[in-house]
Amino acid sequence: MSTGVHRPTSEEPELIHLEGPGTVGPTARPMPDFPTPAPLASHGPARVIAMCNQKGGVGKTTTTINLGAALAEVGRRVLLVDFDPQGALSVGLGVRPNDLDVTIYNLLTERGHDIRDVIQQTRTPGLDLVPANIDLSAAEVQLVGEVAREQILARVLRPVIDDYDVIMIDCQPSLGLLTVNALTAAHGVIIPLECEFFAMRGVALLVETIEKITDRLNPALQIDGILATMYDGRTLHSREVVRSVVDHFGDQVFHTVISRTVKFPDATLAAEPITTYAPGHAAAAAYRQLARELIARGAAA
Ligand SMILES: Nc1ncnc2c1ncn2[C@@H]1O[C@H](COP(=O)(O)OP(=O)(O)O)[C@@H](O)[C@H]1O
Ligand SMILES: [Mg+2]
Repeated sequence: MSTGVHRPTSEEPELIHLEGPGTVGPTARPMPDFPTPAPLASHGPARVIAMCNQKGGVGKTTTTINLGAALAEVGRRVLLVDFDPQGALSVGLGVRPNDLDVTIYNLLTERGHDIRDVIQQTRTPGLDLVPANIDLSAAEVQLVGEVAREQILARVLRPVIDDYDVIMIDCQPSLGLLTVNALTAAHGVIIPLECEFFAMRGVALLVETIEKITDRLNPALQIDGILATMYDGRTLHSREVVRSVVDHFGDQVFHTVISRTVKFPDATLAAEPITTYAPGHAAAAAYRQLARELIARGAAA
């Protein structure tokens, strides 16, 4: 018997679609046409982007995987760095991080490792991974006493900067020393925000942290964009949250908005990016559009 409430399951199509160029998008601005990126004649040096929000469950890892895969799809060489001891990025790309002897943790805390020995290819061509596991939870305490403790990740990444076009760092939900390392190594930050009531709570503190890093450690650091995630266009609430984020942050907010759909948890279970798990789904189209928007902004090659 039908309850009258539509709850999409994995098998059902959902009511999400992408607004085309010229129409008014979910951010209440006309949707520009983001051109298909031209192939690159040569690769590197990489632009480093930190995926950052000290709140958990806002779509950092999902965005790292799927934006990474969408950039790889247009011929970019992409390295994803798992910087969360939970290892969700690694698991989401089919790696079992707890079986690994050497991860980002060893690169950060021990001398004599070559990052190239730690990088794994994923099943997506052009998309590589530096995995993490629970070992990383000890790094924060261990690194506190190190010289130039904020610059350790930047030093770890340096040998492969020229091999990639984009390096994305999937941060853990905290503003501790690991995240400070990510922001110090980065050229840009993407801040995913869940379309929920308290989305903006904590963002002021994050922006303040970014400003401190800009002042003291990394003057070139920029906010590449704020990404509304888990948007449900059927609810007034979601639309209001996006409007208030745009009122507050203006053009820093990406035109691309990521809708809420079970395809994302499904793809994570399948350990695949949405771009191959459900290539024809609007959710895959959204991350492809975000990749084009990022390139159009000049935040990726
Ligand atoms: N757009 C979305 N629609 C539905 N579920 C999503 C979406 N984005 C992420 N999720 C799910 O929400 C949970 C948290 O997302 P995740 O990317 O892991 O957040 P974070 O890395 O910020 O903690 C995961 O189970 C993920 O599959
Ligand atoms: Mg995560």
